[in-house]
Amino acid sequence: MSRPLQLDPQGRLRHLLSMDELPRDLIVSILDRAAEFSEAVSGPDKKLPNLRGRTIVNLFFEPSTRTRSTFEVAAKRLSADVINLQVSASSTTKGETLLDTLKTMEAMQADMFVIRHDASGAAHFFAEHAAPGVAILNAGDGRHAHPTQALLDLYTIRARKGDPAGLRVAIVGDVLHSRVARSDIHGLRILGCKDIRVVAPPTLVPAGIEHMGVRVFHSLDAGLDGVDVVMLLRLQKERMLGAFLPSAAEFHRDFGLTRERFARLKPDAVVMHPGPINRGVEISGDLAYSERSLILDQVANGILVRMAVMDMILESRESGIGNRESKGGGGGF
Ligand code: CP
Repeated sequence: MSRPLQLDPQGRLRHLLSMDELPRDLIVSILDRAAEFSEAVSGPDKKLPNLRGRTIVNLFFEPSTRTRSTFEVAAKRLSADVINLQVSASSTTKGETLLDTLKTMEAMQADMFVIRHDASGAAHFFAEHAAPGVAILNAGDGRHAHPTQALLDLYTIRARKGDPAGLRVAIVGDVLHSRVARSDIHGLRILGCKDIRVVAPPTLVPAGIEHMGVRVFHSLDAGLDGVDVVMLLRLQKERMLGAFLPSAAEFHRDFGLTRERFARLKPDAVVMHPGPINRGVEISGDLAYSERSLILDQVANGILVRMAVMDMILESRESGIGNRESKGGGGGF
């Protein structure tokens, strides 16, 4: 459904809304571009000219530490100007609609919007209404998708463990509320990973998730058997309207990564978590930044992957220069 919006007629990236319809080659190209940026910014001068003169607007209607900051760092490393619209102090609090916010910022010649919203489909809505030449990057919409998180997770897995196709990956915890889980599953499947496990209590597993090509486990010990990658998920208390769990302590006892369980993993298995972590719930505090934890690598790689996505979108626009005229009175490349 997103494909006609996400990709231009030549199959290049126009917006980034979700993982599920991205071709494998495009995902690999994004990861390769991120690896090139890793080299390019390894010295003291981390600034590249690629997005000079472009304006990126961060529009976060939900809290964020990692995604918002790393999008900003990524844009600045590519020499873009960045506007962080403070939503709680913006005219949205006076009733301005999403559409009018978009059109207002387009009138200031914004080129890309990075949007996080609690409504699934918000980024898609923006992309449908954006002026030609204006790009939308989904930074998380409801339970639906968090594509740059999936890309940085794939990048991190590939960098440390090699081709995801040959790996066994367990995704553990609050899958029901997790846009990260959905995007990671799509991304891993597209890259050929055949052994993806979802490990959670029955109340935190979405109905029908098996149709995404995963196996469901309700026992952590069984689910972690022989895995190469353990991807822990945050318990999303803010999205839990009902009684999904007896308590956080019971969740930790049954589904938390304790030192004892960590010791039973394969010796080269790695631990990941998109963050923010609930220490002592999904993971024992002392394991969070241990040698086999990639949690901080994920954060750092988020900069590279977001640089790659913005750069590739710009590249698509530059080569489709004839399509640049805006009907919406806004900016555009
Ligand atoms: N992983 C992630 O999306 O973290 P933030 O909510 O801090 O952006």
